[in-house]
Amino acid sequence: MKNTVLTFKNAKQENKKLTMLTAYDYSIAKLVDETGINSILVGDSLGMVMLGYEDTLSVTMEDMIHHTKAVARGSKNALIIADMPFMSYQTSVYDAVVNAGRLIKEGRAHAVKLEGGEEVCKQIKAIVDSSIPVMAHLGLTPQSINAFGGFKVQGKDMDAAKKIIDAAKAVEQAGAFAVTLECIPEKLAEIITNSISIPTIGIGAGSACDGQVLVYQDMLGMFSNFTPKFVKRYANIGDQMKHAFLSYQEDVQNGIFPGTEHNFSISDEIIQKLYGSGE
Ligand code: KIV
Repeated sequence: MKNTVLTFKNAKQENKKLTMLTAYDYSIAKLVDETGINSILVGDSLGMVMLGYEDTLSVTMEDMIHHTKAVARGSKNALIIADMPFMSYQTSVYDAVVNAGRLIKEGRAHAVKLEGGEEVCKQIKAIVDSSIPVMAHLGLTPQSINAFGGFKVQGKDMDAAKKIIDAAKAVEQAGAFAVTLECIPEKLAEIITNSISIPTIGIGAGSACDGQVLVYQDMLGMFSNFTPKFVKRYANIGDQMKHAFLSYQEDVQNGIFPGTEHNFSISDEIIQKLYGSGE
């Protein structure tokens, strides 16, 4: 079943949990899509988990388009949401619409995600008015780490909590079809989820959200630089990969790989002639 923004809308109304995972390339997108996960997020987290930056700030529009295209080729049914990278929408409403358009037109995403509340509502409205669905992102918005002073839980005091509730209402009003809530207390996420009509997708925001998202390398144990508290490890693929790489190395060094079953044959007659022609 093809997932669309209507799937998101209906899921909230029918109280069905939505599932989302990141993917950044063709093979992983295909695997995720085949499971029936509702949505694939081509997150700007790719800056960290795919490109090795220490944060998401250096990710460019070209990076996002390149990876979104690959994901789109691998996915049939998931709703593909592409992150708008840092400074691709903050600068002006015009930039926001042009860059959102590129992610849809060149990247073949179905929707875009951008970070922020009231300060980006003009951008959200203009992008939505251009017929591009927008997911908002509140709480710990990684593009603001320099302003936050690091990756820290948000919304813990009265003012901060109230600000996130107001921001959720504002992005809904501006036309966002859903909102990601990252790293906020679960009770705050519950209040937000109950006070807006669009689905909340949580990451480190507890189980009351209308859906959940995780970075696939985190949940598969493939990214060892750090593991946030909110991540559940569903497999240790990183260890399995290292084990396979070591076995391969040993096999090559010991002449075990490639074996006869991996080789291509040629007739003995031709080989004889080849030896003969070399003499
Ligand atoms: O970039 C990303 O992967 C994200 C998720 C953490 C929600 O924005």
